[in-house]
Amino acid sequence: METRACTKAHFDEIVEVIDRWWGGPISTFAHPIFFYELGDAALVAVEDGQMIGFLLGFIAHQPVKTGYVHLVGIHPDFRRRGVGRLLYAKFTEASERAQCVRMKAITTLGNEGSRSFHIATGWQEEEIDDYAGPGRRRIVFTKDLGVRN
Ligand SMILES: CC(C)(COP(=O)(O)OP(=O)(O)OC[C@H]1O[C@@H](n2cnc3c(N)ncnc32)[C@H](O)[C@@H]1OP(=O)(O)O)[C@@H](O)C(=O)NCCC(=O)NCCS
Repeated sequence: METRACTKAHFDEIVEVIDRWWGGPISTFAHPIFFYELGDAALVAVEDGQMIGFLLGFIAHQPVKTGYVHLVGIHPDFRRRGVGRLLYAKFTEASERAQCVRMKAITTLGNEGSRSFHIATGWQEEEIDDYAGPGRRRIVFTKDLGVRN
């Protein structure tokens, strides 16, 4: 298994598989902006030529420089094999090189897989009632990095 920069062919594949990998309609989250405009932090995990996971992120500049994980998906047949851990590690390394002071991600209530993954990999969580608008509660994950701007 290795990670690579996401190509247009990978992005096309992500759009095709994402609803299946997530078990529900989520393809609008794979907005082209995360490939065309913010794609420095778009990574895929590949094994034997097959894409088995992806991470779409970007560097945010406020309120502090942050490596933001927008969307992650691992092929259902390849979960619990460290693919998510590897993609997060690579993006965290890139964020550290970019002088980020923390990492951030969000998830919806009820996504216990995501919650367990973030807790197991050392993130702090906070539940915020109206994070995504009135009545739209989210779990916000953060992880401090050991660098200072
Ligand atoms: C959440 C997700 C990204 C995890 O990816 P993964 O490659 O399976 O995770 P890893 O194998 O790297 O797991 C690392 C650790 O996290 C924890 N973990 C991961 N998934 C878990 C789950 N479903 N239940 C409980 N713990 C879990 C475990 O402690 C695991 O270590 P272990 O397998 O040695 O016990 C993957 O399940 C996924 O794509 N889910 C659907 C989409 C999604 O929810 N994306 C994230 C939204 S923010």
